[in-house]
Amino acid sequence: MSPTLFAQVLDPAHRADPYPLYEALRRSPVSRQDDGTWVVSSHAAIARLLHDPRISSEDLPDPPLFRWTGHPIQDLLVRPIRSRIVARHRPFIFRDPPDHDLLRRHVMREFSPGRVRRMRRETEAITGALLDRLEGRAAFDLVEDVSYPLPVTVICDLLGVPREDEPRFQGWATQLATALEPNQRTDAANAARNEAAFTAISDYLRGLIRERRASPRDDMLSGLAAGRDGERMNDYDLVATAVLLLVAGHETTVNLITNGILTLLRFPEHAERLRREPEIAPRLIEELLRYEPPVHYRTRLALADIGLGDATIPEGAPVVLLLAAGNRDPARFRDPDRFDPDREDNRHLGFGGGLHYCVGAPLARIEAEVALTAIVRRLPRLRLLDDPPPYRPGASLRGPRRLRLAVEAPV
Ligand code: HEM
Repeated sequence: MSPTLFAQVLDPAHRADPYPLYEALRRSPVSRQDDGTWVVSSHAAIARLLHDPRISSEDLPDPPLFRWTGHPIQDLLVRPIRSRIVARHRPFIFRDPPDHDLLRRHVMREFSPGRVRRMRRETEAITGALLDRLEGRAAFDLVEDVSYPLPVTVICDLLGVPREDEPRFQGWATQLATALEPNQRTDAANAARNEAAFTAISDYLRGLIRERRASPRDDMLSGLAAGRDGERMNDYDLVATAVLLLVAGHETTVNLITNGILTLLRFPEHAERLRREPEIAPRLIEELLRYEPPVHYRTRLALADIGLGDATIPEGAPVVLLLAAGNRDPARFRDPDRFDPDREDNRHLGFGGGLHYCVGAPLARIEAEVALTAIVRRLPRLRLLDDPPPYRPGASLRGPRRLRLAVEAPV
């Protein structure tokens, strides 16, 4: 039997160009795969489900990150009970209302306009320093030299992790990112490495939280630790939230920057335009989030039978929301396979939608705007050395493993 279309999406052989598979999947946009998973691939159906309270982010069949906070009770409980109790100590991306909403509110309050403005200045300084290091190089790897270090430094800054601890933080971030990848959950050796990283980062953060409670600073961890209006997170939720911000905000942003430069070098007229008209950066980033999104799908669980068009997703079924397929849906976007920063009404699904809509979207937009604009301005004659580049294995967080670029001399 040939593998189902979604099994082919998971196969790394299709990582460089999954879009033809998405097109095939959209022919029956709510479809059951052989393993009982339902894949939803049209913009309209995904958008409906993102707003439907009958789908859960909480009771996923194999919660990937249930050990995030190192809560000792987890090891003592058998699975059905465990999944309920542990749910209370999961990061809020894996929780449903009302707990999700309470925790998310704490973080939203910390993304104040003042802090976001300050983060833009920080991001400019960090990007400038990374690009300074490329002076005189004839070739470099964008991922290693720019896209990877930039977001982790920004998140350390946001949270208030001291600069000297960043290398350790970056190591944990790299390991933990693998836990977000649904098809890597079954790898036992990797699961053990993830646990070690969870334990190490949780211990580290607990120490930092203690310090910030004793002497608060102007950073997000101090704000979250202090709470507001008499509401304060418990320490398990605080650690889980800090790790979530790191993991959700790192690899995603790496991929947005890398996919951005890859796309601009494939369509050099847009790189040239960004260089001449930096004010188009926000539109260009929105189009990137549609055209080459860092997050290709998210999973949910159906809490009831859900009818969508001719199909009914049965209660208990795992559901894949194929955001990247919705982004190329011709029923929603004219000429969807064309990269067009001038597109009107670009309601892409790059940041998801509904109650789990990306809480870090303002920061992600700033990072991508600052990085892409600075790169095309300071390195105007870049050339791709591999196209397509090698990709990381992940199908959900999809992005190049390396992007080797040559810096050509001015003519
Ligand atoms: C949620 C994408 C950057 C923090 C999400 C979701 C998507 C997404 C698709 C929805 C998840 C779901 O529905 O299950 C992205 C992309 C980014 C990015 C493409 C970069 C280009 C960031 C950054 C941060 C962040 C920089 C934080 C510093 C979060 C958090 C959630 C989330 C905490 C969970 C929200 C919730 O459950 O209510 N992101 N993200 N993200 N993102 Fe981002």
